Amino acid sequence: MQVAIVTGAAKPDSIGHAVALGLVEEGMQVVVADLYEQGFGTLPRCLCIRTDVSNPASVDAMVNRTVEKHGRIDVLVNCVGGSWGITAQDLTAPPPRGFRGLTNCTLDDWRTILGANLDATFYCCRAVAPHIKKQGGAIVNLASVAARKGIPPGAEGSSGPYAVAKAGVMALTKQLALELGEFGVRVNSVAPGVIASGRFTKVAAMTGPGAGPEGPLKQIPMGRVGTVAETAALIVALCTDDTSYMTGVTVDINGASYAA
Ligand SMILES: NC(=O)c1ccc[n+]([C@@H]2O[C@H](COP(=O)([O-])OP(=O)(O)OC[C@H]3O[C@@H](n4cnc5c(N)ncnc54)[C@H](O)[C@@H]3O)[C@@H](O)[C@H]2O)c1
Repeated sequence: MQVAIVTGAAKPDSIGHAVALGLVEEGMQVVVADLYEQGFGTLPRCLCIRTDVSNPASVDAMVNRTVEKHGRIDVLVNCVGGSWGITAQDLTAPPPRGFRGLTNCTLDDWRTILGANLDATFYCCRAVAPHIKKQGGAIVNLASVAARKGIPPGAEGSSGPYAVAKAGVMALTKQLALELGEFGVRVNSVAPGVIASGRFTKVAAMTGPGAGPEGPLKQIPMGRVGTVAETAALIVALCTDDTSYMTGVTVDINGASYAA
């Protein structure tokens, strides 16, 4: 049986949660790595391991435990991320008000946002690489439309460091695809526009309709934000042989909001 690790999947309204359930449906043994232990009970068919993905020692311990328990790793999906605070204290806190751009964010904002979006993706890929190389497999990283077009100053609940971190995730994806191609490991990113996960819902409750990171809905040619289910379906496809010749790319899913 194939073994998949999904980071950032414990919150029932997260993209990662839907990915974990989708991979279970594909017949995989799924390990969930997350800080939010309160959500572990919602994933009875997964092995849930409390992990802080921004801490390399915590990531190494999670990967070692996965291999001890299941003997192999075939798939890694790096879902942890976000445009504002993503430390343990932030998991249940409301979003901060205002926009944290590159010129007005604190150094702590920069480090924690880069840490959970970019460093964490690097730590997880690096720890999984020696195992996934043994038989081949797939890695999917979460980027963002923010890396394609930046985030306009003033966008509530969002940040400049986030756009930079996700651009780094896209470059990391290309580089890793080059390094792991000969081992039959495919590495791709997904760059969502605004998706109605729990994170977005919290920001929208604070800002009111059309004033959060999604902007006025008329700026999205499809006239709506995306759903967690349609985003997870794309990610799951990138984990399976349905996409067996795709690697080193970032796939956009944004209702044409980047094309517009
Ligand atoms: N929702 C969107 O509109 C949107 C848009 C573009 C990109 N994305 C990206 O998609 C991914 C998933 O987003 P989401 O909206 O589902 O987020 P979410 O906040 O709903 O879920 C994130 C999950 O990560 C966990 N987590 C947070 N910090 C952690 C840490 N340090 N270690 C381990 N677990 C941690 C949380 O407990 C939660 O389960 C992120 O990388 C995000 O940047 C989301």
